[in-house]
Amino acid sequence: MRITRRLLAATALAASTFSPVHAQVQTPVQAFPANLQYTNAACSVSPKELGNWFVSGRVSKGGFVTFANSIAFPAQNTTCDFYKWAHQMFLWISSPAAGGVVLESPAFFDINFDAQGGHYIPNTAGVARHSFAVRGTKTQSIQPGGQAGGGDTVLSMNGSLVYFGVHANDVYAWFNTAVSNKVIPTSAPFPNTPAGLASVVSYAAGQGASLPDANALGLELKTAWVDAATVPNAADYVTIDATVPNYVKTSTALWTINKQSPTVAKTLALVGIHIVGAVQGHPEMVWATFEHRNNAPNNSFYFNTLFGSTVQVPYNSTGTWSFMASGGTQSGALVPQMTIDPTTGNVVATNGNTIRQNNVYRVNPWGNAPTAASAVNNSQLISLNLDILAMLGLVGDVRANYMQVGAVWTSDGSIPAGPTAPALRGSLLLANTTMETYHQVVTQGKSASMGCFGCHFSTTSTGTSHLFPINPLPTK
Ligand code: HEC
Repeated sequence: MRITRRLLAATALAASTFSPVHAQVQTPVQAFPANLQYTNAACSVSPKELGNWFVSGRVSKGGFVTFANSIAFPAQNTTCDFYKWAHQMFLWISSPAAGGVVLESPAFFDINFDAQGGHYIPNTAGVARHSFAVRGTKTQSIQPGGQAGGGDTVLSMNGSLVYFGVHANDVYAWFNTAVSNKVIPTSAPFPNTPAGLASVVSYAAGQGASLPDANALGLELKTAWVDAATVPNAADYVTIDATVPNYVKTSTALWTINKQSPTVAKTLALVGIHIVGAVQGHPEMVWATFEHRNNAPNNSFYFNTLFGSTVQVPYNSTGTWSFMASGGTQSGALVPQMTIDPTTGNVVATNGNTIRQNNVYRVNPWGNAPTAASAVNNSQLISLNLDILAMLGLVGDVRANYMQVGAVWTSDGSIPAGPTAPALRGSLLLANTTMETYHQVVTQGKSASMGCFGCHFSTTSTGTSHLFPINPLPTK
């Protein structure tokens, strides 16, 4: 029984932590209304299992979580295995590490773009050199600037633009390098077998690089950030120091990049992260996304209770959100107010609008249509999030503020040729409110995203990535 287990979890944690436990479980207040506590235990993580994700063997504030072992991913798997994989990867990537979090450690590269294309920028511990864009002068197919698919951008309720980063881990970068240098054939999928991984590891070793996270396999990420000075409590967010474009508010319809000092240093707060990577037998990769609990309210959705009934949670926008006014309505929401000019990088109001906030909500909560048919998938994600966030909340860990919205993959490792490929499983209409804000619905000439594979579909494994290949790492 879930209730019993949750009480046990709380008791075990209270007994194992020396800091006072304030019994204030920081579960997302609006995303998780009280009755969700009665979601059936469709996908659970026990305190012992979650503890084993931590290097220390127990759930602890600021504790380091190891990456999910992607090469050991079970061939006989369940939906829950994929969601657990994604959540463990998020907790790893946002674990404290020298100079910040794992995202800023040598395991990951930032990917920056210039006229010569994308470049891997190594992380040097303690050196703040992340450079994030809203949109530069490159084509939208590779430049993280405005949002993918049109360059629209979002302003938070407190007036921060959303900045985007693109990142990949060392396994991804060395695979890219081996392919670019014709050591691994261009037709090869992202490593997802022991043999595929071995060829990347041995190529990297020949170049003097060791891959301590080899069993994480290749990962690519996209991150979304707001100015940490604009959030109610920056301690509730994973933060990073970065330089971002420096705008002059020229008029209500135009912000131009400051010519004297085109960039400005800011501390940024993480609001969204896409985590995408292969697991054994899945070259199409698992496409997962996470959001801060205060981003935006959910549309109405259904879940299954412990008692076997299917219950609808109504839309409720009351609360303090980064991208929705408290009590804001769905009508009038999700209308792009401004876009980033791809040639100048300027913020330009869309026709008839001004540069301003606009209400955002999650159209397809948990990545599926808001119908009763989604209750099974929703319950899996709600159940997993409740377990993990409750335990992290009990120890006061900042990662308790981030929820997994969902993940999508194929049942048989086939590469989806389109967003409605029958083999797709999980959160079929997945979107992040900070990154695919306007692609959640058909509006203003935009087609619905139909989830991650609505844009990332392909005929080849590497074709699903919009990065691959970029300029390789330097080699001997
Ligand atoms: C509207 C089309 C669209 C949708 C929908 C979309 N993406 Fe993307 N995505 C892009 C484009 C285009 C890029 C290239 C960078 C850019 O322009 O922002 C990209 C980049 C990325 C990257 C960085 C690495 C790369 O492949 O370039 C990741 C990771 C990513 N997307 C994950 C996701 C996930 C996860 C979802 C679903 C939740 C998703 N995307 C939905 C269009 C889309």
